[in-house]
Amino acid sequence: MPEEKIRALRETALARISAARTVEELEAIRVEALGRKGELAQISKEMAKLAPENRARAGKLLNSAKDALEEALELRKREFEQAALSARLDAEWVDLTLPAPGLRPGSLHPITQIQREIEDLFVSLGFMVLDGPEVETEYHNFDALNIPSEHPARDAQDTFWLTDGNLLRTHTSPVQVRGMERFRPPLRMIAPGRVFRNESVDASHEHTFYQLEGMMIDRDVSVAHLLYFMKALLREIFRREVTVRLRPGFFPFVEPGFELDIQCFICGGAGCPVCKHSGWVELLPCGLVNPNVLRTSRIDPDTWSGFAFGLGLTRLVMMRYEIDDIRLLESGDLRFLQQF
Ligand code: DAH
Repeated sequence: MPEEKIRALRETALARISAARTVEELEAIRVEALGRKGELAQISKEMAKLAPENRARAGKLLNSAKDALEEALELRKREFEQAALSARLDAEWVDLTLPAPGLRPGSLHPITQIQREIEDLFVSLGFMVLDGPEVETEYHNFDALNIPSEHPARDAQDTFWLTDGNLLRTHTSPVQVRGMERFRPPLRMIAPGRVFRNESVDASHEHTFYQLEGMMIDRDVSVAHLLYFMKALLREIFRREVTVRLRPGFFPFVEPGFELDIQCFICGGAGCPVCKHSGWVELLPCGLVNPNVLRTSRIDPDTWSGFAFGLGLTRLVMMRYEIDDIRLLESGDLRFLQQF
């Protein structure tokens, strides 16, 4: 009976279509079932022998089987195309937010890190962050800071002189002078930067290192203000309350001048190798701005007074990370730098 044949054929073909794995398989099924010499065509030939009323029914069945198979083939083909497309997209997919393989992300130099921390603190306290030239005039580096040419303090700072009479600044204090020239008091400023000294280099001496200068000029500034700001600074740097003491220290641009020491927090003041068994670590020279310095920059010392300090950033980083060779900091050695 052609009708049963048609039904059976339709079911088998549909089952084969849904089991097919490739476009080629689908095409083979199509040719076998629907092709000009295919199974349905064969049945269609046999139908000529049927009685007319049966032939009409069988014809309908045949057409609907044909339609069903064509549709199933088309659907399955589209599924294959979809799968191929998503496989291709999966293969092409890239996560653009991933760091490139094999490349290390950069990091800030430990001196830059500490400098930024201190800048943030002083900016929050109303200080400006000023910059000054590394090639300085003799006037800004020495004379305006109350260090005249015959003064022995010049010898303490072995200077790189340039042939044109300028020099590589030996400290960041000249930025004080530039600050006073540009901004009139009241004035709060810090000036981080690179400084240079003509020294032979060894584990504790460098010709190039970093300082951070600070200065505040206002009415009635006293040692109490100096101490307040210095303690805030040290609290920020060491992330704890520190005990400090002042010893007299001499710097021509401050009067009185001090050496500020902190109680050694390695041994709590009991004495250890870090503090050389004294219980104290010398950290920060400072003082009240010498009236001569104010006067040179045309600021009246009867109205204004100020404090200043000079922090050794390089030394601070060495203390923070217990680095025992200053040369590492300017070495550019990645094995060193990658630790920060
Ligand atoms: N400029 C000095 C130096 O490099 C450090 C210094 C000392 C700076 C006392 C100051 C200060 O502002 O008050 O040796």
